[in-house]
Amino acid sequence: MKFFVDTAIIAEIKELNDYGLLDGVTTNPSLIAKSGRNFKEVIAEICEVVDGPVSAEVAAMDYDGMVAEGEHLAQIADNVVIKLPLTLDGLKACRHFTAKGIKTNVTLCFAANQALLAAKAGATYISPFVGRLDDLNIDGMTLIHEIREIYDNYGFETQILAASIRSANHVKDAAIAGADVATIPASVIKGLANHTLTDKGLDQFAKDWAATGQSIL
Ligand code: E4P
Repeated sequence: MKFFVDTAIIAEIKELNDYGLLDGVTTNPSLIAKSGRNFKEVIAEICEVVDGPVSAEVAAMDYDGMVAEGEHLAQIADNVVIKLPLTLDGLKACRHFTAKGIKTNVTLCFAANQALLAAKAGATYISPFVGRLDDLNIDGMTLIHEIREIYDNYGFETQILAASIRSANHVKDAAIAGADVATIPASVIKGLANHTLTDKGLDQFAKDWAATGQSIL
């Protein structure tokens, strides 16, 4: 499973990239607002840091507006992925960009039938929002399983990008469900390395090593 980081904060992206843990980046209007930075500048900067796909979301709600904005955003860098909402106009715009060879990420997916439509529109990625379904007491991970089954039934090549991932268990469960990618907050990605028994074992090894009085170099 590929890891994308869900952020518009350059320092977070650089840190994860340096660890070799990053396959791509997703942003959304809320994350851009949180960064306090100019949208197009921040996307250009992310694309310089990361080789993989970088999702930039259109703000328009209508087909013509989405096409105009998406074509503008696609010029920023070759690895920009146009993020489009799962609406009828968004699906039509997805079809337009796919025909032009521009990658797309269809976002705000909360139902398997929506994911079916995105695949039929030729989306590169579909983003089902796991955490936001969990917030409503609906099991978000069931949606990932359903989409996996549907896409496998028909050989759709659209990649399942598990989104709204909030915890280490979400990451593990998305991997078990067969998501192609998970987009994850930086803190959650770094937290995946943590285990209390790792810390305990390391403390003991450090004490025992010190008692030997040896040095390796
Ligand atoms: C996905 O592309 C979205 O940016 C993101 O995963 C939404 O997560 P949230 O529900 O935690 O805001």
